[in-house]
Order: sequence, then C-alpha cells, then structure tokens
Amino acid sequence: MQLIDRLRLLGFRQFTKRLLSALFRSRAYVLFSRDCEDAVMPEPLPGEAFHVLSAHNVIEKQALIEALLSVSHENAEYVEDIRRHRILGFVIEFEQEVAHYGYLFLRNKTACILGIDSKTALIGNAFTVPGYRGKGAQPRSVRARAALARENGYRTILAETNPDNAASQRGMTKGGMQLVGRMDLFVVCSSLVARWRRPAGFPLIGFCARRG
Ligand SMILES: CC(C)(COP(=O)(O)OP(=O)(O)OC[C@H]1O[C@@H](n2cnc3c(N)ncnc32)[C@H](O)[C@@H]1OP(=O)(O)O)[C@@H](O)C(=O)NCCC(=O)NCCS
Repeated sequence: MQLIDRLRLLGFRQFTKRLLSALFRSRAYVLFSRDCEDAVMPEPLPGEAFHVLSAHNVIEKQALIEALLSVSHENAEYVEDIRRHRILGFVIEFEQEVAHYGYLFLRNKTACILGIDSKTALIGNAFTVPGYRGKGAQPRSVRARAALARENGYRTILAETNPDNAASQRGMTKGGMQLVGRMDLFVVCSSLVARWRRPAGFPLIGFCARRG
C-alpha cells in the first residue's frame, strides 16, 4: 500500500503512533541469573516425564510437538527455532499431558538486546498449564535448563521477566536464580539498543541487527 493511502486510512495521529512504535520501542525487565557449572538434571515427580526437544529429535517427538502446539500455537515459532539449532525445549508431561514447557535459547536476538555475554544462555517463555501451577514445575524446569546450558558449554543462565510477573519471579528464585536487577532500554529501528538503566556489567549501548 502506498504511504499516502496508509495515511488516509489510519489518520495522521494513528499513522504517526504506529510509525513511532515501529522505529522506537521501550522495554522494562527484571533480570535473574544463576551459575550452571554445578547444575544437574532434577528428578521428575511421580507421574511426570521430562522431555528435551532438540534439532536431533524433533521428528521422533512429533506427537509431543503436536501436544505443545495444542496448548499454544505460539509454540510454532519456537519449534521452528528448535529445528534450526537455535533453541532447546524442555517439557514436563504429567500423566501423558503437557503440564509445563520452557526454552533455552542458544542464539537469539533478545540475548543480544539484553547485552549478555557469550558464556551466558538465556532461558525464557516458560508456561505451566493453569491446573498444574504452584507445584514447582517452573523451579524444576529452571534447574533442568541450567543443566542443559552446562551441557552446551555455558557458565550462566539468565532470564528476563516482566516487573509485574510475581509468579514468574517466585518460580525463578525457587529454581536457584538470583535477582540481578532491573533493566530499562529502548530499541531504535529494531537494531540500536540503549540500556539506560542496567545492572553492573551490562553495556550501555548495543547493536543487534541480525535475528540471532
Ligand atoms: C510463571 C509460571 C511459569 C510459574 O509456574 P509454576 O510451575 O506454577 O511455578 P511454581 O510452582 O514455582 O509457582 C510459582 C509461584 O506462582 C504462584 N502460584 C501458585 N499457585 C498458583 C496458581 N494456581 N495460579 C497462579 N499462580 C500460582 C505462587 O506465588 C508461587 O510461588 P509460591 O509457591 O512460593 O507461593 C506460571 O504461573 C505461568 O505459566 N504463568 C503464565 C506465563 C508466564 O508468566 N510465564 C513466565 C514468562 S517469564
């Protein structure tokens, strides 16, 4: 669509708002981290089964992938990245039903945006189905992903969460993660990052042009 047509359709104010949000995004995070050098895979509770999804087993784990997609179609994007060796998935089934999942990002743009070093792996997008919440699935998943990070050569895992997400912050703390601090940043043109409020050790400016 031509620029002038877009302007007419949306109105000047709406168009300017959309343009600004495409050019300039601001975000706030609370960061947690833990060393993973001594991390070991936890034991599943009775009735649970743990699964690790990687590029090497996505074909044989097709039934589990279908189950993940039926919990949320947003998982399609992550499954695609598992196939591309960018991330690993960790799934807890309880009595053959998906109860929890979370991801370990080996290469991704959010890690670049946060300014984390190459020995730190990002974990994220954890989800526990509502009926299974409060049973410690998230803490077990954090420990499991710390063990997977160690196996993949990382020293530390880092997670970001929304400052208002108390349940997520509790789950991470119970999984052995410690509060690193708050980060506020803005991203210009999806590439240039200014971390104007950041914990010690994180650079002020970053450039993240590629996807991951
Ligand atoms: C955040 C989340 C993954 C935590 O998973 P979990 O497996 O329930 O984790 P835990 O069992 O350790 O519970 C963590 C905290 O959630 C809260 N909680 C407990 N039962 C709950 C329930 N039925 N519903 C909502 N929150 C509950 C409690 O504060 C609990 O801490 P506590 O046991 O010390 O009181 C889960 O709430 C979730 O999927 N939320 C929606 C998606 C999301 O926010 N993901 C995180 C993105 S960073």
